[in-house]
Amino acid sequence: MRALGATATLTLLAGCSGRHNWLAAAGEEAQSVETLFWVVLAGAAVIWSLVIGAATYAHRAEAKPHREREARRFIIWGGVVLPVLVVCGLLVWGLLILRHITSDDGALTVRVDGERWWWRVIYDTPEGPVTTANEIRLPLGERTLFKLTADDVIHSFWVPALGGKMDMIPGRETTLALTPRKLGNWGGLCAEFCGGAHALMRFDAVVMEPGAFVRWLEQEARPAQVAEGDRGFAVFEEEGCGACHAIRGTEAQGPVGPDLTHLASRDKLGAGIYAMTPDNMARWITDTHEMKPDIDMPAYPGLQGERLDALVSFLMSLE
Ligand code: CUA
Repeated sequence: MRALGATATLTLLAGCSGRHNWLAAAGEEAQSVETLFWVVLAGAAVIWSLVIGAATYAHRAEAKPHREREARRFIIWGGVVLPVLVVCGLLVWGLLILRHITSDDGALTVRVDGERWWWRVIYDTPEGPVTTANEIRLPLGERTLFKLTADDVIHSFWVPALGGKMDMIPGRETTLALTPRKLGNWGGLCAEFCGGAHALMRFDAVVMEPGAFVRWLEQEARPAQVAEGDRGFAVFEEEGCGACHAIRGTEAQGPVGPDLTHLASRDKLGAGIYAMTPDNMARWITDTHEMKPDIDMPAYPGLQGERLDALVSFLMSLE
């Protein structure tokens, strides 16, 4: 029995660890929410104790009619006035945090569009927008403003260790700020049920040193380097991949699926769910719906042998 209890406790604690842990804040906004959580928990414990205490006191006082007035006063102050003050205080504090994390300012602006079931990511830079997908890189210590919307149904943007979450609503723009305080690859996910592959709608939120971030963004803004007569790019064109996917610097300008210009520089494939390896890439093309059910991308089971190899090496060269 004791072993069972210990196992259950360890399992629960394991659920609280790792990069999705909002109780191990790695950003300013997550820290303010975490602090609020602990204070609310303590406040709730105080209110609970007062209400139970007042009820017990009143129950005992009932037997002694001469103490009725004293009991009533105790219930009004301890059971009504104080809890109302505590709850109102917490409400105001929570609203101030909400206003801070949704206010419209930030050194950097990133637009994120929720799609079924992936993330379109657009960095607003003075030189123009830079589009990528399914991986968001952020500079350490700088406040980044996210402008969120959705293409089809409601999604919700959440990086538990950094802050959030915020709904992404079609036809409307919501905002959220994140100020990372720790380097690392923090996991992000969709926190609103949005259909079949909702649980597989993830992304990486990579916090970098500001200098490395600037170099990364400059590289991301460059068009792809595609060699003249590349065999894999020829297969890409023959199969019509460019109708859905864009590779900047080529004729492929499809707006439907994720931008592939620097695909291989991302850590993961399939919106944060598979490691970016040649094997996974090949399976993604041929067994698409085994890899991620319900998605719009058609599978290409007929693409095999030399043509598949060439396409995979081409995609893996897009760094
Ligand atoms: Cu998107 Cu759940």
